[in-house]
This record gives sequence, C-alpha cells and structure tokens, in this order.
Amino acid sequence: MSEPVTIGRATLYNSDCRDILPTLGKVDAVVTDPPYGINAARDRKSEQWGWKDYPQSGWDKERPDASCFAAVLAAARYQIIWGGNYFTDRLPANHMGKWLIWDKGQEGFSLADAELAWCNFDGAIRRINYHRAKALQDGKEHPTQKAVEVMKWSIDQLPKPSATILDPFLGSGTTGVAAVQMGRDFVGVEADPVFFDIACRRIEDAQRQRDLFLESAA
Ligand SMILES: C[S@@+](CC[C@H](N)C(=O)[O-])C[C@H]1O[C@@H](n2cnc3c(N)ncnc32)[C@H](O)[C@@H]1O
Repeated sequence: MSEPVTIGRATLYNSDCRDILPTLGKVDAVVTDPPYGINAARDRKSEQWGWKDYPQSGWDKERPDASCFAAVLAAARYQIIWGGNYFTDRLPANHMGKWLIWDKGQEGFSLADAELAWCNFDGAIRRINYHRAKALQDGKEHPTQKAVEVMKWSIDQLPKPSATILDPFLGSGTTGVAAVQMGRDFVGVEADPVFFDIACRRIEDAQRQRDLFLESAA
C-alpha cells in the first residue's frame, strides 16, 4: 500500500479501495462514480465529444463486487453513487430513496442521454441540466469523466452539509476538485497510477486557485 499524497485538505491514495477503506475511519459522505462494467475504456474510433484513445484499458470491464460495495457503504452515513442503475442488484433497495439525474442536454446520441445516481437517503428525485459540450470544457482526461459542476451539485444534494467527502473510485479527480472548490475535506482513492497522477494535478490546481481566491478576498 503506497503512502497517501496530501494536497491542502485532500488526502489521496494510489491504491485499490478494497485495501484502503477498512483503514479509514467513517467519513460524512461518499460521493462516487464506480466502474459500470460497460467497457467504457474501449477505443470508440472517434474523437467526437472528447472520445480518444486512452492508454488505460480493462478498468471498466467488471463492476465492483458485493463485498466492495459493502465496504463503500460502511464508510459513510450518506452515500451518492453515480451509475446506480448499473448496480441495482448490488445496492440496497431504496423504494423511498432519492435519485439524482444528470441530463446531458442531448437526445439519441450513441452514449446515454442522462446518468443516474443512487442515494441512500430519502428525498424527491432531482435533476441537473448540464450539457455534455459544457462538461468537455473542464478538459477531458478520463473516458468517463464527470463534470465538476455536476459533482458540486451532487455534494449540495447531501442531507446535511458534509465536512469530509470520500470518493473511492476517484478517476481523474473530479469529486476532489468539486470538494476543494467547496472548501470541504476530501479523501480519494484511485487504483490506476496514470489516472491518479491526473487527479493529483487537477486537485492541486483547484487548491491553488482556491488559495489565491481566499488570499485576494482577505
Ligand atoms: C467511472 S471511473 C471514475 C471517473 C471519475 N468520476 C472522473 O470524473 O474522472 C472509475 C475509476 O475507478 C477506478 N477503479 C476501479 N476499481 C478500483 C478499485 N478497486 N479501487 C480504486 N479505484 C478503482 C478506475 O481506474 C476508474 O478510474
């Protein structure tokens, strides 16, 4: 297990989350986006909408198994899990539960028109309209990168303001960027070293911009 990297209030592990989760104390909230098991890393032979050849492959061939989800669910009281529709057989039923929808503002495209997040708390279904093209303005460095605005909105949907956010499937670090921009503590875990380095750089940039903003406001 490698030593964590600390960037401001973010602690980042380049490890398998199954090794890290049992070592962490309980945090306030998990906001995450696990592999959906749809092989999203495959070469789509098109650079349209930001698709390109990504050197990492294989990470999206399998979904996390039941024991991995059990460790994720044990890590925090509140949970928001993007791609929840891919995990309905592995997550507890939430018949009164809240779902989040990211409406990508585009219909009938080869990729999904929208994405769904399962929540372990009750509440009305909420939807954000955030066009796929706007999401690309963050700079696309991961095949299934979420938009920073969508992850900030997700954090705002938690039932209570949560001091510490955990993302055990960090990818390019989008949840960490959102948490840093919102002044929250953050813990992230990513198994792939290339994605991990991208996440560190993006979170460091977000931290630097926040520090500059706070300095100029003081
Ligand atoms: C759907 S992607 C997350 C993308 C992220 N939301 C973003 O905006 O970049 C899931 C990530 O989980 C990582 N991953 C898969 N299994 C893992 C595990 N057991 N522990 C830690 N990371 C894992 C993959 O390498 C992949 O980068």
